[in-house]
Amino acid sequence: MRRPVIAGNWKMHKTITEAVELAGSLKQAAAGIDHADFIIAPVFTALATVAAELKGSNLKIAGQNCSDQPGGAFTGEVAPQMLLDAGCSHVILGHSERRQLFGENNDLINAKIKAALTAGLRVIFCIGETLEERETGRMYDVLSEQVTQGLAGLSEEQMDRVIVAYEPVWAIGTGKTATSDQAEEAHSFVRGLIAGQFNLQISEQLRILYGGSVKPGNVDELMARDNIDGALVGGASLNADDFIRIMNFSGAN
Ligand code: PGA
Repeated sequence: MRRPVIAGNWKMHKTITEAVELAGSLKQAAAGIDHADFIIAPVFTALATVAAELKGSNLKIAGQNCSDQPGGAFTGEVAPQMLLDAGCSHVILGHSERRQLFGENNDLINAKIKAALTAGLRVIFCIGETLEERETGRMYDVLSEQVTQGLAGLSEEQMDRVIVAYEPVWAIGTGKTATSDQAEEAHSFVRGLIAGQFNLQISEQLRILYGGSVKPGNVDELMARDNIDGALVGGASLNADDFIRIMNFSGAN
């Protein structure tokens, strides 16, 4: 059995005060729920303060990005060790906004994943095709490249600390969710890729989250599918009521 994961990606939203307020509400709500792991990813500036607020709770904290370098003269970057120091256990890497808006390619993402795992973080590794790639029949090639190159050179032990998030780019922030059939199909394809690149046991243990307009109204149907092990939530994670409802999903298999 794979333990579900519900993760909130706050992107570039919320001041420290707002972040602590939301984290406080989630902490209370999460205290009574034990059917999943819960992770939130505030902006860098709020990490340490949110970590203090969440001490002793069952909510974990992720950075939204990190450097592939352990430290040094890299203006504007944050090292994986610094995320740990700020109270993070996880980091989101390869998000489509990083790929599309900041030019991150599979090689750089691979280097970041290795650096983060070496530092001791767990990684939420995002993949997903654009609408054009889907419509021109290149979806499987794109996913295959992202997975193969993104996870190249990882050991079995390191794969234990990786979570994959399938986030079709056309569904992110658009209100257009993939149907649970589309998501299940992509997840099962990705699980097959992992079995080929690593082995069956690793692929069976790997948690694959769906991301892209996950909301209170669609989370249960998504979570009911065999290969969907959780959700990476953007917009709906900024609102306490919505995210708490998502944390309380039903239908996990
Ligand atoms: P969304 O974002 O839920 O707002 O579509 C998901 C994500 O970017 O991780």
